[in-house]
Amino acid sequence: MDHKDLPPRGSFTSKFGVIAAAAGSAIGLGNIWRFPYVVGENGGGAFLVVYLLFIIGIGIPVMMSEFVIGRRSLRNPYGAFKKLAPGKPWFLVGLMGVGAAFMILAFYSAVAGWTLEYLFQSVTNAFEGKSSEELTGMFDAFREGSIRPILWMLIFMAMTAWIILAGVQKGIEKYTKVLMPLLLVLIIILDIRAVTLPGASEGLSFLFKPDFSKITGKTVLEALGQAFFSLSIGMGTLITYGSYIRKKENLANTALSVSLADTFIAVLAGIAIFPAVFAFGIDPASEEGLVFITLPKIFQQMPGGYIFSLMFFILLTVAALTSTISVLEVVVAYFIEELKMSRKKATILAAASISVLGVFAAASWGWASNLTLFGSNIFQIMNFTSANILLPVGGFFIVIFIGWSLKARIAGDELTNSGSLRGRYLPAFMFIVKFIAPIAIAMVFLYKLRVFGN
Ligand code: PHE
Repeated sequence: MDHKDLPPRGSFTSKFGVIAAAAGSAIGLGNIWRFPYVVGENGGGAFLVVYLLFIIGIGIPVMMSEFVIGRRSLRNPYGAFKKLAPGKPWFLVGLMGVGAAFMILAFYSAVAGWTLEYLFQSVTNAFEGKSSEELTGMFDAFREGSIRPILWMLIFMAMTAWIILAGVQKGIEKYTKVLMPLLLVLIIILDIRAVTLPGASEGLSFLFKPDFSKITGKTVLEALGQAFFSLSIGMGTLITYGSYIRKKENLANTALSVSLADTFIAVLAGIAIFPAVFAFGIDPASEEGLVFITLPKIFQQMPGGYIFSLMFFILLTVAALTSTISVLEVVVAYFIEELKMSRKKATILAAASISVLGVFAAASWGWASNLTLFGSNIFQIMNFTSANILLPVGGFFIVIFIGWSLKARIAGDELTNSGSLRGRYLPAFMFIVKFIAPIAIAMVFLYKLRVFGN
């Protein structure tokens, strides 16, 4: 298909717009909700070290690769591989990404729905005076309900669809530029409160003192999955966004800034949560409930906690929204370009079909709690499979594609803007995408499967 047959494509209109959009995708519930509890379950500091290594050695190169594929092809993930490697099976990687988008958006919207519930509870001041046990009970009771979690999930999905319908530039790009910095300020305020709690130091040493005896195959796989999930890589979100980046933008710099910002926010979220976990005797193994139990407890201990709590859950909703639009856009771009739908039809169809999965995710502690596999409910299966399997496998093939299939000249051309940037790192980049990153990903899987070590 010729490019001129395609509907006109949007593009991000400024350098800051690109970073805001990509960082908006990366920064979200993955940083503030998922990161703390995954760190908690996997032993703290040692996990953090492995996580950071994966961000640098695998995450950033995969992100650069996705940008290259997207901007070169000007397509959705499926169309991108079709165009860059005609007649070869690489398009399957793009299809897998579209599938992962379904799964991620389904359970992610469920958590975003919990955030809306907590925003609502903040308005009515429902956390006031509750003990840690009571807050835990409150979270469990909400999640086990049969209506509210689903209702909130649907409301959130509708918000996502509405923005995607309106077009990304005029809606979210405008607001995120203001709201994301505000979120940062709020987290820093929470951090200050958290680290000055009596008993905070225990939480900080849990987060920052690595105990390498806690590293197992599972830890390493979870760190890899968390790195991919948090950076929004491995499923073509950033191929799609890359296809909206103008030719004069510096892809490597963008990847670096986005990854730094994302990692910074995750660590700040950890600094807010762990001191409170230890200071208030909250069970660090509270899994998916951890932040929803810990944060209200911190708000209780702050002057103006009511206002902070309101603001925080509003901003968390926004952060979630700037991530979910990037996931929905993958599916919508695919429907528009490959199935020749209008944006409106594509958005409605995508949001509606993903909502069906979302209902099951949201009901995973309610009426769907009997549907389990190896002791995990539907939500947990979607969460684990997408982050720890689909994204790393996707990332593996993306770097292999750049390293071994696409002509090296093309990657070089995109990363240096046809030679106008220096790109002295290019030989190192090629070495990483050819060898280091794919071997590291493969080794994580082998280690987890106990093929060696452990
Ligand atoms: N990175 C997002 C977050 O941390 C989640 C996400 C995953 C978004 C995959 C897009 C693709 O919240």
